[in-house]
Amino acid sequence: MADLCVRAPAKINLHLEVLGLRPDGFHELAMVMQSIDLADSLRLRPTADGQISLQCDRAELPTDSSNLVVKAGEMLRARSGFTELGAQIVLEKRIPIGAGLAGGSSNGAAALIGLNELWGLGFKSQELHSMAAELGSDMPFCLDGGTQLCFGRGELLEALAFNSTEPPALLLLKHPGVSVSTPWAYGRCKELRGDFYLEAEADFEQRRQALRQAPLLGAIAGNGSWPPLRNDLQAVVEPEVETVRQGLALLRQTEQHLAVAMSGSGPSLFALFSNLDQARTAHADLAERFELYGFESWCCGFSDRGASLLP
Ligand code: C5P
Repeated sequence: MADLCVRAPAKINLHLEVLGLRPDGFHELAMVMQSIDLADSLRLRPTADGQISLQCDRAELPTDSSNLVVKAGEMLRARSGFTELGAQIVLEKRIPIGAGLAGGSSNGAAALIGLNELWGLGFKSQELHSMAAELGSDMPFCLDGGTQLCFGRGELLEALAFNSTEPPALLLLKHPGVSVSTPWAYGRCKELRGDFYLEAEADFEQRRQALRQAPLLGAIAGNGSWPPLRNDLQAVVEPEVETVRQGLALLRQTEQHLAVAMSGSGPSLFALFSNLDQARTAHADLAERFELYGFESWCCGFSDRGASLLP
């Protein structure tokens, strides 16, 4: 069996609304997620020693069974019953770690797709989705990627499409010295909002329906301009993290941006532009200030797919 390579793109949240706290301790969400052209890659090689070994070019990332790549491999192997299967996996990181860009979830989704193929297991998309949902809230989205409405914990997906030849592009900022823990951000949200159970499924469905009809979905469909973006975790993180406030202020100074927001639980921040040229111009205009404040920055397009095998 030959080596396989899998691309694992990052995502941003174009919308993140916390609807309520569920009895299982997770939060019920209504989100729009978008894959972007900033991606890690996984190279997979089969072995017959029953070991799943992971190497990564970023020393700070754990490569033991706490990594979603290894967890995905272990779950596939357990579900298939072929316990002797092994793989050497080499992960090249380009997506910043702990950034709200679903880097870890995308790596896990790429491992599900890649190892299913490498080991010839033949699990269908629906089975991979159910494994992904058990492993992490953002993982089901990362399997398909593109532009999707995500409900529940993030596992109920409805695909959306840009009705334009040129979807927007983004300028992304992340301060390398800062990361935000997702459980911390949700925990703080719970503290700030108190008990905010929306117990009736009918209430959730009403809010889902409101998002399906919101101006943001009009902009995605090409009918109307971009509204301000909503991320309920931004309201939690922004007051606590100075670099988030600085980064948002810098992005708001860019000319011609369509919208500015934090992604996921942060601290990554982005500004949207009509196209990559505009994003690059805005980047060039502010490059010195980004450096002065110590930000890393990227310009990239939207991606229409999630984790995928490379030819
Ligand atoms: O599912 P995942 O492991 O990505 O979630 C990390 C943590 O984020 C959870 O343990 C939980 O504290 C919080 N979370 C949440 N509601 C969600 C997703 C995540 O409270 N829908």
